[in-house]
Amino acid sequence: MTHAASAQPLAARRSGALTGRLRAPGDKSISHRALILGAMAVGETRIAGLLEGEDVLNTGKAMRALGAQVERGDDGVWRVRGVGVGGFAQPQAPLDFGNSGTGCRLVIGAVAGCPVEATFDGDASLRKRPMQRVLDPLTRIGARVVSVDEGGRLPLVLRGATDPLPIEYEPPVASAQLKSAVLLAGLAAPGKTIVIEAEATRDHTERMLRQFGAEIKSTHHGDHGRRIVLTGQPELSPAEVVVPSDPSSAAFAMVGALVTPGSDIVLENVMMNPLRTGLFTTLKEMGAAIETVTSRNEGEEIADLRVTFSALKGVDVPATRAPSMIDEYIVLAVAAAFAEGETRMRGLQELRVKESDRLAATADMLRVNGVDVEIDKDDLIVRSKGRAPGGGLVATHMDHRLAMAALMMGLASEQPVQVDDTSFIATSFPGFVETMRALGADLS
Ligand code: S3P
Repeated sequence: MTHAASAQPLAARRSGALTGRLRAPGDKSISHRALILGAMAVGETRIAGLLEGEDVLNTGKAMRALGAQVERGDDGVWRVRGVGVGGFAQPQAPLDFGNSGTGCRLVIGAVAGCPVEATFDGDASLRKRPMQRVLDPLTRIGARVVSVDEGGRLPLVLRGATDPLPIEYEPPVASAQLKSAVLLAGLAAPGKTIVIEAEATRDHTERMLRQFGAEIKSTHHGDHGRRIVLTGQPELSPAEVVVPSDPSSAAFAMVGALVTPGSDIVLENVMMNPLRTGLFTTLKEMGAAIETVTSRNEGEEIADLRVTFSALKGVDVPATRAPSMIDEYIVLAVAAAFAEGETRMRGLQELRVKESDRLAATADMLRVNGVDVEIDKDDLIVRSKGRAPGGGLVATHMDHRLAMAALMMGLASEQPVQVDDTSFIATSFPGFVETMRALGADLS
């Protein structure tokens, strides 16, 4: 709904070496959470390095509509004056999350613990995505779904709980959004809200809740899971949040450099949270030269990474790795298109419910560019002799990551790769095209 721009097609052509340094914008997951927790704290939270992409700005608007003060200072630091846990005001208009599943699902969770009624809506892509998965546990907490579109889709109207209950919940899918929605609702409930994950997903909500003063414990559960226990009704204190660069955004230039001969770039300030770095692990297994130049800990592990052109080979990517690289499969598939041999990416069922059906759309992106690709149940298989023909027009289906990945493919394919619309890149990586051009990418 908020995304007013008309379609912006673009082509990527075979480029010379990519060189130079790139600092990807702030991490999207952390940016959403900083605004939401800032709005639920008492006092002024300051956020440096916030991602100023459309998705996050929509979350900021929603926090304002719920009564928080959210402002960008002249110094680029965002200030959020919160209303306290359970203190949201009744919004006067529908909350519009544009393209953002994360913003929408997290705020649904936050609202579910407060006695206000809110309408949630989004663009045509978000209106196709499943919301029932968050509504199920939230109704157990005491929220009431006043109305919802067919199949548990947006727009929906939610009445938050007057007396929220703490629940113990095992998400049926590995989803940080679902986990976070339950934890944010659980903030307003007395007693302990418990989430048991069979597969650990990104833990930014847990880390940030701790930073804002909540009592939250996370222990290992089974082989790959976590048991998270949150003590409800804390008074959240404001925090100073410094947002590191988004590894999911840095991923595009990383793959662009790996496949474009002669490239040698440095990606600065990349967040290396181990629940986000599955792509880096996989690319290294494929033979990628990714070297940590410097690293430091600022609440999260952060590194500068040097990436140089590499001859890649196909690998088998286990399904257990999916949560740590869930947003990176499209660009991994591009790397696979330039890797010698077969790459099998397993267990990708969640890709079907992202900004687009990413499993189908990724296969289409490769197929129209002459790459041998197959979907086998929930697995994506790419076979290559180390080169991609290109020459295709990629349909991006309102999906920022498809647009960026397809452009990276065009930098090294034999014929140009065209994409139908780059306008959605602004949801997560404003300035992407200019930034890539500055490294030497031929995009026009
Ligand atoms: C996110 C979680 C993931 C990811 C999304 C960001 C988050 O979604 O795809 O881009 O910030 O919690 P799911 O939790 O639905 O897998």
